Amino acid sequence: MNYQVSSFIESIIYKIALTLPELGKDFLPELRLSDPRFGDFQLNGALSHAKKTKQNPRTLAVLLAEKLKKKLPNEFAHIEVAGPGFINITLRSEYLLKWLKKFQSLADLKTAAKTRFAKETIVIDYSSPNTAKQMHVGHLRSLVIGEAIQRLLRFHGAAVIRDNHLGDWGTQFGILLMQIKEEGYDINAEHEDPLEDLEGLYKRGSARFKEDEKAQEIARSELVMLQKGNPESKALWEAVTTVSYKAFESLYQLFRVTFDQVQGESFYQDKLGRVYEELTQLGIAEESQGALVVFHPEHARFKETPFMIRKADGASNYGTTDLATALHHVEHAKATTLLYVVDGRQQDHFQQLFLTVEKWFKAKKYPLPRMEHISFGTVLGDDGKAIKTRSGDPIKLKDLAAEAHVRALKIVGEKSADLTEAEQIAIARIVGIGALRYADLCQNRSSDYVFSWDKMLTLEGNTAPYLLYATARIHSIFRKGGLKPGEGELGATAFETPQELALAHKIVLFAEALEATISDLRPHHLCLYLYELAGLFSSFYAADKVIAEDKGMRARRFMLCARTLLILETGLNLLGVGTVAKM
Ligand code: ARG
Repeated sequence: MNYQVSSFIESIIYKIALTLPELGKDFLPELRLSDPRFGDFQLNGALSHAKKTKQNPRTLAVLLAEKLKKKLPNEFAHIEVAGPGFINITLRSEYLLKWLKKFQSLADLKTAAKTRFAKETIVIDYSSPNTAKQMHVGHLRSLVIGEAIQRLLRFHGAAVIRDNHLGDWGTQFGILLMQIKEEGYDINAEHEDPLEDLEGLYKRGSARFKEDEKAQEIARSELVMLQKGNPESKALWEAVTTVSYKAFESLYQLFRVTFDQVQGESFYQDKLGRVYEELTQLGIAEESQGALVVFHPEHARFKETPFMIRKADGASNYGTTDLATALHHVEHAKATTLLYVVDGRQQDHFQQLFLTVEKWFKAKKYPLPRMEHISFGTVLGDDGKAIKTRSGDPIKLKDLAAEAHVRALKIVGEKSADLTEAEQIAIARIVGIGALRYADLCQNRSSDYVFSWDKMLTLEGNTAPYLLYATARIHSIFRKGGLKPGEGELGATAFETPQELALAHKIVLFAEALEATISDLRPHHLCLYLYELAGLFSSFYAADKVIAEDKGMRARRFMLCARTLLILETGLNLLGVGTVAKM
């Protein structure tokens, strides 16, 4: 019994191709089964291969189909050549039933999936906001995309280290500390919104910095004191970090995100010397106008625009810390893969970082990890520009979350007036945050998207409320039947109606949906799959009575309900969306 059916079929076809002179090794690139979203698998490869090699497509398809029939177990699938030379592979009803019996719990799915990345240690850098500032809508994407991806990788067996790489170091702290002292702000006292205070302090400080030479001097000396480890400066800076993280943490709780390590830029400050030394020694970095930089002559742009790793005034920067961080992850965590879930506008930075790491690690014979920038687009307002409040400031993430809750409460109130108020509030929190994060995840992350409350909170369409409502409805079917999901399946007979077959087939395709999702680390593939699954469930539920007279029929329909629920809940959970049993 194969968890992932299409790759099983593909491997058999490939073995056959190798024995056929008409196909051979060259067939490998033609070997993808077409997107089996609804219904059957289809192989177009024989057709395209025949065209390329000037053979008769239909003859070639028939030849391959005949071999395939012999090789594939008979109870597995029905194989047919169609049209000019497509091969249709239809899983048989008995096989679908077997699959559903075999993969009946979360543990079964996990066991099957976990070999995929079993040898990988992955450090994933996500959220990673700058301290002394509030998280705003721009921080939503890294948080929710990063969380979904880390859950998916963990599910597939990787050892994942969730790393919150705070921006907690840099020249801005000179200005901030100056202004805190100037205004006598007591950071250790109770404040209603200390991050807002810090933002204000920084704004006022930088205004002074721009105008007043005296202020520039003070800010610089504050920075030097901090960098030299002056205890008073250090304590103040630490207080800034603590206050900031406290505010971040309440958001992390709301979004159900936890980190394995919070190692901000400051953590690497004593590890930067080695970066300068090694890169200079190797001749990878060079002095240019007083700064230390890395040119990449093989690259169209970076041969002229270098990667800066030390500024002319001797200060380290974003690039230096990221270089030290990469080395640290490889040496300490023995990371095989480094993922950075960061805004697409930082693309150049990451390209230069990766090129530099590659040259550096190869020269030093350090193990070279796979590195990937999981980049994403911008959240837009109705005007097509990065979304802002009316006053022109970015919308705070905590305000967004609060509004999502209020708006979700309206839906929950309408849908389930019979629940107590407390129940409604608790459910609305899950639905609201779920809607917010799902609206983000269901887009291809590379694209920008227009933020819309109405769209994300509708009960129709590819939204969290729609999927959560589907799960709640299945729970209620079981409650009404006096059963728990998974019970009542004994004696299930093979699926017969078109709706049963389509639904069962879709359930079996969960493994391929996950494979598509992790192969390019794009959660929207999984979202689309779950949406289609819920749609097929709806059609099934509308057409076929679950509590049927016939015992075998009833049992198999309970099975379809339970497995749909299992897959929906597993999928939502992998995306980070909490689920509800009632709605
Ligand atoms: N703090 C940065 C920002 O807010 C993101 C850091 C991403 N991680 C990294 N290793 N560069 O833009």
